[in-house]
Amino acid sequence: MADSRIKLLEEKIRTYPDFPKPGILFRDIFSVLADPRSFQVMIKLLEEKIQSLCPNVDVVMGLESRGFLLAAPLALALSKPLVPMRKKGKLPGKTKQVSYTLEYSTDTFEAQVDGIKPDQTVVIVDDLLATGGTMKAACDLVTSMGGKVALCIVVIELSDLKGCEEITAPFQSIVKY
Ligand code: PRP
Ligand code: ADE
Repeated sequence: MADSRIKLLEEKIRTYPDFPKPGILFRDIFSVLADPRSFQVMIKLLEEKIQSLCPNVDVVMGLESRGFLLAAPLALALSKPLVPMRKKGKLPGKTKQVSYTLEYSTDTFEAQVDGIKPDQTVVIVDDLLATGGTMKAACDLVTSMGGKVALCIVVIELSDLKGCEEITAPFQSIVKY
């Protein structure tokens, strides 16, 4: 039953008040990864959503760094190529970049240009959606590379921050706070 699996995840996600700074309730995905059964359930739930919403997707994109931990097993389960989006200066070869604004700063993400071919469809995977800035940057990057965002998917959505309003592509989450 999907509900009992989501409940298991909710129980496993640990919450740390005032990390990394006062006032932030940090939702920790690593407590799920520390339990193999919960890790397996989490990947299966993500895989099932992707299979039902975009079964013929071409590419899985994972977002640095926690997103990599989910995107890698998902790409294997789906038998699709994995493309990383990294913070700037960490990927060799020809890359495409996108700058994005966070609450108090700007930064740049990049991906290798040969990772996505024109008109390929992409599912973007991350652990958590907060303000939506990271996911929006990933969508912009995929589009600028000629790809099409079929689905953005995260395990945890911080609903109060309304990050999903930043995303114009289809969006899914498993656990909402
Ligand atoms: C976290 C999280 C998401 C992003 C969500 O990553 O893993 O990628 O923040 O926040 P947003 O919706 O406000 O953009 P972080 O930048 O902390 O990097 P990490 O994964 O390397 O810890
Ligand atoms: N990234 C941004 N906000 C976060 C939060 N509250 N918990 C975990 N990761 C985050």
